[in-house]
Amino acid sequence: MIGVRSGAPRRARLAALGAHVPDRVVTNADLERIVDTDDEWIVSRTGIRERRWAAPEEASSDLGLIAGRRALERAGVDAADLDLIIVPSATPDHLFPSTAAIIANAMGAERAAAYDLLAACSGFVYGVSQGAAMIEAGFASRVLVIGAEVLSHVIDMSDRTTCVLFGDAAGAALLVPGDPQTTTGFLGFEIGADGSGGDDLIIPAGGGRMPMSCAASPSDGFLQMKGAEVFRFATRAMVDSVRRLLDAVDVTLDDIDLVVPHQANIRIIDHAAARLGIPESKLFNNLEHYGNTSSASIPLALTEARDAGRLRPGDLVLMVGFGAGLTWGSTVVRYEPVEVTA
Ligand code: ACO
Repeated sequence: MIGVRSGAPRRARLAALGAHVPDRVVTNADLERIVDTDDEWIVSRTGIRERRWAAPEEASSDLGLIAGRRALERAGVDAADLDLIIVPSATPDHLFPSTAAIIANAMGAERAAAYDLLAACSGFVYGVSQGAAMIEAGFASRVLVIGAEVLSHVIDMSDRTTCVLFGDAAGAALLVPGDPQTTTGFLGFEIGADGSGGDDLIIPAGGGRMPMSCAASPSDGFLQMKGAEVFRFATRAMVDSVRRLLDAVDVTLDDIDLVVPHQANIRIIDHAAARLGIPESKLFNNLEHYGNTSSASIPLALTEARDAGRLRPGDLVLMVGFGAGLTWGSTVVRYEPVEVTA
């Protein structure tokens, strides 16, 4: 699905960002003590040096609550004034109630509608596409999109091909309406899904098809991935989605100030960036420190880019995600913060 912004009387504005990661740092050396792996293999195949892992009792809502509050604080917006909270997550606290409803209750967002969104690592782009559409349609004025993950709780620590890749984090974006005369906002979205690759990246048990109580083996409750297939899909999806989007919104890479791709694997990013002709100076990566944090990875990277001075007010940003489903999504937005503490 591709959507170019209409002439709606309101424009959704990317107003504030926030992020949170758990305290526990797990280095490649730590993993060497758990599985048959080594730092050199992990760094050369993935670019990851360390990741954060949540405590066993910490859930996505706990991380997401802090990230969401940080975004609200930046903009000086009260949770009670939120209209909608969307939580993209591959590791929601439960099938129901939604993690979004749990966060809404914890932050006092009493007026907000709240729901989770399951598009795995593309979830954040899917989430902001929905939030922006709700604002531009006039249905909502303050929307919080929070990507939140505790992937360390669903990885098989005996599977060295997956356990080294993932980490835990949350990242949030606050969207508000802007005046179309002065706001650029989101220029468009390209989001899609190809369910034929569903088995390439799956947690088989825990849903209605195979309830956890009926799982044949403990590994059915863990993330399972066909790495080579996902690698091929990811590079293709990144390149194709970005090309389709830039073409549709009539923007070139020269116009883009910062590219923030989903932080899955440095080889996927480098491969796609080379094919698209994205110069290194425009790419923001932080997967070295966090690994793949799925729906949290893009908002976490945006927040770090802002804090590092790489994302400045007025910058035109290209984001692109890809993941289980299989799904993908990209968007171009001007960063137009209303932050009170910026
Ligand atoms: N440490 C040491 N050796 C390992 C490890 C490890 N952690 N993992 C695998 N190996 C070994 C394999 O057993 C294999 O050994 P063998 O040749 O003796 O059988 C060898 O390394 C090569 O394995 P490959 O799977 O071919 O390694 P590859 O170079 O393809 O890299 C990887 C594997 C990193 C998983 C790669 O396929 C990949 O990045 N795929 C995409 C993963 C991804 O990004 N997924 C998430 C995207 S979507 C989302 O975000 C949810």
